[in-house]
Amino acid sequence: MTSHSLPAWMIRAVTSNGVHAGYMPGFGNDFETEALPGALPQGQNSPQKCAYGLYAEQLSGSAFTKPHPERTWCYRIRPSVKHTTRFEKIDVPLWKSAPHVLPDVISLGQYRWDPIPHAQEDLTWITGMRTVTTAGDVNTQTGMASHIYLVTRSMEDEYFYSADGEILVVPQEGRLRFCTELGIIDLEPKEIAILPRGLVYRVEVLEGPARGFVCENYGVPFTLPNRGPIGANCMANPRDFKTPVAAFEDREVPSSVVLKWCGQFHRTRIGHSPLDVVAWHGNYAPWKYDLRTYSPVGAILFDHPDPSIFTVLTAPSGLEGTANIDFVLFRERWLVAEHSFRPPWYHKNVMSELMGNIYGVYDAKPKGFVPGGMSLHNCMLPHGPDRNAFEGASNAALKPEKLNETMSFMFETRFPQHLTEWAAKAAPLQDDYIDCWESLSKKFDGTPDVK
Ligand SMILES: [Fe+2]
Repeated sequence: MTSHSLPAWMIRAVTSNGVHAGYMPGFGNDFETEALPGALPQGQNSPQKCAYGLYAEQLSGSAFTKPHPERTWCYRIRPSVKHTTRFEKIDVPLWKSAPHVLPDVISLGQYRWDPIPHAQEDLTWITGMRTVTTAGDVNTQTGMASHIYLVTRSMEDEYFYSADGEILVVPQEGRLRFCTELGIIDLEPKEIAILPRGLVYRVEVLEGPARGFVCENYGVPFTLPNRGPIGANCMANPRDFKTPVAAFEDREVPSSVVLKWCGQFHRTRIGHSPLDVVAWHGNYAPWKYDLRTYSPVGAILFDHPDPSIFTVLTAPSGLEGTANIDFVLFRERWLVAEHSFRPPWYHKNVMSELMGNIYGVYDAKPKGFVPGGMSLHNCMLPHGPDRNAFEGASNAALKPEKLNETMSFMFETRFPQHLTEWAAKAAPLQDDYIDCWESLSKKFDGTPDVK
């Protein structure tokens, strides 16, 4: 993390061992960090009086009684009850929540979009969010929403948090800074970040305009997938996840906090920054992860494995092996399979697949699915390689081949994804996407010859 551009009132911190300035490595660790020496109580969570006159407060991301609860103890200048007053409802018209099924919008079909043009207007993290799909039900904490963000302006004395779910951020262009209650994350393309449910933060533009994808997870938090026979290494390694060290603001100016709650937005006005956690410890915290550290595992002899082999993160649904959401990464890798059709095969899937292109060329769709663009293949809707990809892969010399300059991802959910009106009508939908399969020809003529 760069420190030179932080304002003077943003106090940076180092961990007590001084090794990992900025971030602490590990996934789901029980971290501890303090921005002022001695601010973190030792040996107990709730002393009779906290150092520096701080207030102790627990942020619970799971029920108290979950087998391995997610919670963090915060030691802050003011308790969070001072960071909200009365709420007024506000409109954020393009940020939708499930259930959001519209009678005049058809979600049944194969959909693909060109990159959403950057905004010419002032848009913040809140006003720049455009919902593409929703699935499940935010009120029952099941399902998800996918969004595109277009951010041109930093939030100033304005803060946000969501009670509706955690937010997975996948930048595609531009750099953002997330100033959170628990520390600061700088984020750029090829990285991802998680902002847990209930965490208060402000988003600043470090390099704009910024565009990217968001998965809003209404369910239980993302975790690392079970590795099964793959064993203890490869895929996403825990040490590559980075959680920020404590940093706080002691800033008394008129400020507002926007809360997303059951799909509605509410504003509350306070007289100070709510980012006032001086020290914290626990396992419920934001993190970022560099997708370039993902170590893909795949076919080394023949056939094409299911894309679940590329799962970076999974959010379980309660039905074993069936994710509320999987976050799947298609990155640079070698193709070496013998006597095999190497790209993804044709398929129908009970899961619903929302894909986005971060950069480069995707192997199943050499044209049309471009950086910043996205596609949707909904529950049980057939899809697969277009004609060029099919013919190319069917006739290629099967020598080892490196897929270079490619990074796409998938938000895959067990729930059908419903398009918003914005996605169906305002966003640059490619009306001719389905035509990419039109020229696939019938090869069958009743003879067993390989065509
Ligand atoms: Fe698929």
